[in-house]
Amino acid sequence: MGCVLEMKQIRKEFSGVSVLNGVDFSVNEGEIRALLGANGAGKSTLMKIICGVYHATSGEIFISGKEEEIKTPLQAAEKGIAIVHQELSMIPTLTILQNFFLGKEIVKNGILQEKQMREEYFKVCEELDFHINPDTKTRDVSVARQQMVEIMKCIHANAKIIIFDEPTTSLTNDEKKTLFEVILKLKEQGKTIIYISHILEEIFLLADTVSIMRNGDMIGTFPKNELTIPIISEHMSGKKYVEGLRLQSYVRKEAEPVFEVQNLSAPNGTKDVSFSVKPGEVVGIAGLVGSGRSEIVRSIFGADKKTSGKVLVDGKEVKITNPKQAIKAGIGLIPEDRKREGVILKQEIYKNATLVQLKKMISRGILSARKERKYSEDAVKKLSIKIPSLDTPINKLSGGNQQKVVVSKWMDEDMKLLIFDEPTKGIDVGAKEDIFKTVEDFAKKGMAIIFISSDLSEVIRTSDRILVVRDGQIIGDVANDNISQKDLMEIILR
Ligand SMILES: Nc1ncnc2c1ncn2[C@@H]1O[C@H](COP(=O)(O)OP(=O)(O)OP(=O)(O)O)[C@@H](O)[C@H]1O
Ligand SMILES: [Mg+2]
Repeated sequence: MGCVLEMKQIRKEFSGVSVLNGVDFSVNEGEIRALLGANGAGKSTLMKIICGVYHATSGEIFISGKEEEIKTPLQAAEKGIAIVHQELSMIPTLTILQNFFLGKEIVKNGILQEKQMREEYFKVCEELDFHINPDTKTRDVSVARQQMVEIMKCIHANAKIIIFDEPTTSLTNDEKKTLFEVILKLKEQGKTIIYISHILEEIFLLADTVSIMRNGDMIGTFPKNELTIPIISEHMSGKKYVEGLRLQSYVRKEAEPVFEVQNLSAPNGTKDVSFSVKPGEVVGIAGLVGSGRSEIVRSIFGADKKTSGKVLVDGKEVKITNPKQAIKAGIGLIPEDRKREGVILKQEIYKNATLVQLKKMISRGILSARKERKYSEDAVKKLSIKIPSLDTPINKLSGGNQQKVVVSKWMDEDMKLLIFDEPTKGIDVGAKEDIFKTVEDFAKKGMAIIFISSDLSEVIRTSDRILVVRDGQIIGDVANDNISQKDLMEIILR
């Protein structure tokens, strides 16, 4: 097993700020290497350098022992390197086949060779045992299947090194299983895999070896069996590991509910949902991916239509047909899909962070940049958001730090109910604690919280009460008296 990729003393600066400080990284042929590190540690940047998306400020890259310059993604592809990006990059309005061959269309004498393209497409389908209609518009295909098409592109390009940058963030459990099977199959075929994820269970399942980065430095590479969650977490953060405890409960038991929903049904599959939340109470929502958890809260928030049902805030009915009315009534939602709904990608961080607080940012009739900055500075400190400056456009931040900016939008004590829909998606272990701390702070102030997570341990750590959802319906409402993950799972599957 030779060394297929070696990077030496890679440095990278963005506008004078160093994000990789001389990183050494090498991978052997046929291994699955996990790459770990806190949000903003430099994982995606290092991978984008191998793929020719970014250029290193200095350093050397060797492929199968030969020094190479990789200036463009095309050159990387020619050298057998392919990436499945953290954010999917296909064009939604094109068909799957068009995306599959994007920039690599087969043309003879000026004529597109569609028949040949189809044949090649189906050959790869067969090789991986994927079956996706090439003529479907990409926007009508689930994220999981789009990702499969990206993997098919890697195979079609004859890649020998395939990089996965947080591939599972939008997948259901079944889809994850399929993905892991595919990755193991690729390994069997002799491919080298570099796998980035914040979900340590996946690392323990898949990886042979693990490289850990911290703040632009490579801390080291370890065989998987030498690692435990506390060791990994200490390498990642440089701090001693403390086991996460259950959040302090601040539910005001004697108080009337601050929020109530009655008999809510909606075209998105929500069926006759009723529940209420008291001030300071954290209500968790558990259920399998696809059970309709997000749909329920989207209907409450006015992001999806309702067919019937009432929403009450402080005992009074409020009319919510769009998110603006929800925010006015004191309800906030931190959505699951930050790229689509949570942030304005090209705008500066401070503009994004103050998005829903605009009214308060006004001073003598005009928007006060000073107030916006002050609010954002506080948020950045509180959530330890790693940013070059407040003026950086949000799409320049690492994935996890973008998510923290979305959360920071709501850091205002005037909201009555805050809904967190998978807030820890793509967030590193340390930063998850910052988010839990924020939930605790909100509850302490008397806000009502709804907390959705696919990670049952998170629901158990945060919630006073847990609603179990299946098929858009609430099938269980359990007090969280130290319920175990196993017992909760049994209720979900019952
Ligand atoms: N195009 C860019 N311009 C300026 N700064 C950038 C750019 N891309 C990345 N950065 C900065 O480089 C640092 C490393 O980012 P990177 O995306 O590599 O982190 P990451 O380890 O992948 O984190 P995450 O786990 O959150 O995805 C971050 O501080 C980020 O803000
Ligand atoms: Mg990243």
